[in-house]
Amino acid sequence: MTVTASRSSESAPSERPAERVATRRRYLMCEPRYFAVEYAINPWMDPTQPVDRDLAVRQWRSLAETYRDLGHQVAEIEPVEGLPDMVFAANGATVAHGRVYGARFKYAERAEEGRAYLDWFKAAGYAETRDATYVNEGEGDLLVAGGTLLAGTGFRTDPAAHAEAGEMLGLPVVTLDLIDPSYYHLDTALCVLDAENIAYFPGAFSPASQMKLEELYPDALIAEASDAAVLGLNAVSDGLHVVLPIEADSLAERLRARGYRPVPVALSELRKAGGGPKCCTLELRS
Ligand code: ARG
Repeated sequence: MTVTASRSSESAPSERPAERVATRRRYLMCEPRYFAVEYAINPWMDPTQPVDRDLAVRQWRSLAETYRDLGHQVAEIEPVEGLPDMVFAANGATVAHGRVYGARFKYAERAEEGRAYLDWFKAAGYAETRDATYVNEGEGDLLVAGGTLLAGTGFRTDPAAHAEAGEMLGLPVVTLDLIDPSYYHLDTALCVLDAENIAYFPGAFSPASQMKLEELYPDALIAEASDAAVLGLNAVSDGLHVVLPIEADSLAERLRARGYRPVPVALSELRKAGGGPKCCTLELRS
C-alpha cells in the first residue's frame, strides 16, 4: 500500500511543499483483558479512581481496527492475568532489521512482561533476540527514527541500555534526557512522523537535550503543552496517517497543515494508566 498526499494549500508559504507517503506496517498489540490500575508507577495512575475495563477493551479493539483499515497488519500477543499493564506493547521490546532487543522493566510490577514478549518473538520465528543487561522499556524509550535510535532516559531506561540497544539493532544512538515525571517515557513527549520528521514537546526535555533536538530536527513540529497533557504525542505515524488521541486537536490541525492526515482515536481508559495509542503498539520492523 502506498498512499500519498500533497501538503495542504494552507501551509505557510515559507514551508517547502512535501509529499507524505504511507508505508505498510506490522504491529504487535495486546488486548487489555486484564487491564487495571492497581499500582501507581507514573503520575497518571491513581488506583483509587474507577477504570472501565470493558470500555478499555472496546477502545483498544477500535484502535486495532483503525490500523487494519489503514492497511496495516496487527499481530496479537496473548495477555497474561496479573499483568495489568501488558496492554502497553510498545514497552515489550524494540525491533529493527528483524532483530529483537528485549525489555527489562524498572518496576517489579511489570517485570514478567519482558519474558512474555521475548517468548512471543521466539515462537514467531525471530532468530535474533537478545535479553537486555540493562533496564529498558522497549519502544517506550527507544524510538527508531530513520537510521537513528532516539533513546530516552531519566525515569525508566538506564542510559547504559542505549549503547546496548544501538549495538544490537545496528543503529547510532542519540540519548535524550527526560525531566518531567508526567512524560516518563520518550514516546509520551516525542513522536516519529517519518524517517526525517518528528513532533515533540520541548518542556519534557533537559535544556541540553532540547538543544540536541533543535540541531537534529530544525523543522520539527513543536507541540503545545496542552497537546502533551492529553498524551497527544503518544501517536503512531505510517508516514502519512497519524493515529493520535482524539483530545489532541491543536496537534491534529498542525499535522494537517504539514500534509499529514490525523486519525483521532478515543483511549480514555488506557490513559488512566498513562498510555495512549503508541504505548499500545509495538512496531515489527523487518
Ligand atoms: N502504566 C504503564 C507504566 O507506567 C504505562 C506505560 C505506557 N507505555 C508507554 N510506551 N509510554 O509503565
